[in-house]
Amino acid sequence: MHLRKDFLWGGAISANQVEGAWNSDDKGMSVADVAVFKPSIDVKDYKAHNTITSEMIADAKNDPETKWYPKRRGIDFYHRYQEDIQLFAEMGFKALRISIAWTRLFPTGEEEQANAAGIEFYRNVFEELKKNNIEPIVTLSHYEMPLALSEKYNGWVERKLVDLFVKYAEVCFKEFGSYVKYWLTFNEIDSVGRHPFITAGIVEDQCIDYSLEEAVYQALHHQYVAAALATKRCHEIIPGSQMGCMLTKLTTYPTTCKPEDVLLALESNLNNYAHADIQIFGKYPQLYEQQLRNKGIKIIKTAIDDQILEENTADYLAFSYYMSRTESADSNREQTAGNTIMGVKNPYLPSTEWGWQIDSVGLKISLLELQDRYNVPLIIVENGMGAKDECTSDGEIHDTYRIDYLRKHIKEMVEAVELGVDLFGYTSWAPIDSISVSTSQMSKRYGYIYVDQDDLGEGTLERVRKESFFWYKNVISSNGEVLE
Ligand code: BG6
Repeated sequence: MHLRKDFLWGGAISANQVEGAWNSDDKGMSVADVAVFKPSIDVKDYKAHNTITSEMIADAKNDPETKWYPKRRGIDFYHRYQEDIQLFAEMGFKALRISIAWTRLFPTGEEEQANAAGIEFYRNVFEELKKNNIEPIVTLSHYEMPLALSEKYNGWVERKLVDLFVKYAEVCFKEFGSYVKYWLTFNEIDSVGRHPFITAGIVEDQCIDYSLEEAVYQALHHQYVAAALATKRCHEIIPGSQMGCMLTKLTTYPTTCKPEDVLLALESNLNNYAHADIQIFGKYPQLYEQQLRNKGIKIIKTAIDDQILEENTADYLAFSYYMSRTESADSNREQTAGNTIMGVKNPYLPSTEWGWQIDSVGLKISLLELQDRYNVPLIIVENGMGAKDECTSDGEIHDTYRIDYLRKHIKEMVEAVELGVDLFGYTSWAPIDSISVSTSQMSKRYGYIYVDQDDLGEGTLERVRKESFFWYKNVISSNGEVLE
């Protein structure tokens, strides 16, 4: 069994990490625009990078510059999308995953009418993709909700967000439905617990009548309901459309075969799955509900929420996979960082400079687990290696470490398909260097295309093809058969 002929090879980017133009054409501020770059903090300490207070937000709003707020400038995709899409086409991309910045359409999230300039920008992007025969896969919310909704409602804690999101989603379906078949609701919905502000606009010092933990579960519930209602409207407005849900696949192993370690790993995996369970099976898992009761958390639901979830499940499961992690009952074990999560260091795996443990077999394990559990079409919408790239004196970038990472992961992916996994695409993160979500660094690069810009925004923004560019082009043209 080979990959299907129409396999969606490509890459994934998000609006807030590439577009820049943070205040152009009436765009409103998003939560990403207040993410400050902190060079003095250990890059493995994701909590220190992602902690935010009301005071920090006020400071950010008073600072009109982009220097310390790299997501405001991105890589200027807003003005260079044609050139970038043509480079993706040169690699043979069949698909590009992008996100729509909610704040380009609704600057504060509460306007009556959508901003025409925002609609025009995305239409132009979709036209360019169409010209280049690249299928868009569009995420409605990728860590870039309106800042105004965070400030006014403490983000997704308030039910109001459901209506505002569905209204925004409906505009997207009506305006872009003729271009876009594949949609995704929330990027890595499970991450609300790991970074409540970035994913759900929750600021801890604004949790007045409730705890941060209660806020997280309530916000998650509102996002599940919003996702279900958006799925319903997507199907009604765009015949033949497919709406997916998305999980950060945090594959967790026990450190040893000691039953206590196995139990911790099991709990960790079940908690990760719960977010996809709710969106694919249409109801909260029994163990998850009991866990909430045991924690004393009572989610406020309307009388029809359960029915909404049950009747509007996702058509496919999209997931990101970068690393695996390990759990141990022994708290003295050495820890290492992962994708905004910590875990025990696995002696069998190498790590990136950011501490993320490189585990290509873990991708195969993840695919088999997800296929067996959900039995819906799967797509890998993020996978890749953040690394510091050096330009040689002749201006070339020989990113053999990235090729090695991707080659091993794609090999395991192809083997998983041979074992029966129903996989329809692979969009690696990110085909062009962009701003890191967790650390706001430019120097944490993932691309096949180098962008000349440093962490403080200095550089020409020139695009340069790396060695991996030519390698990935061959992978795509051979439909995953030529990996060397
Ligand atoms: C994923 C996010 O979790 O990880 C992306 O969806 C992000 O937006 C990617 O860029 C890599 O993380 P980082 O922190 O290295 O940018």
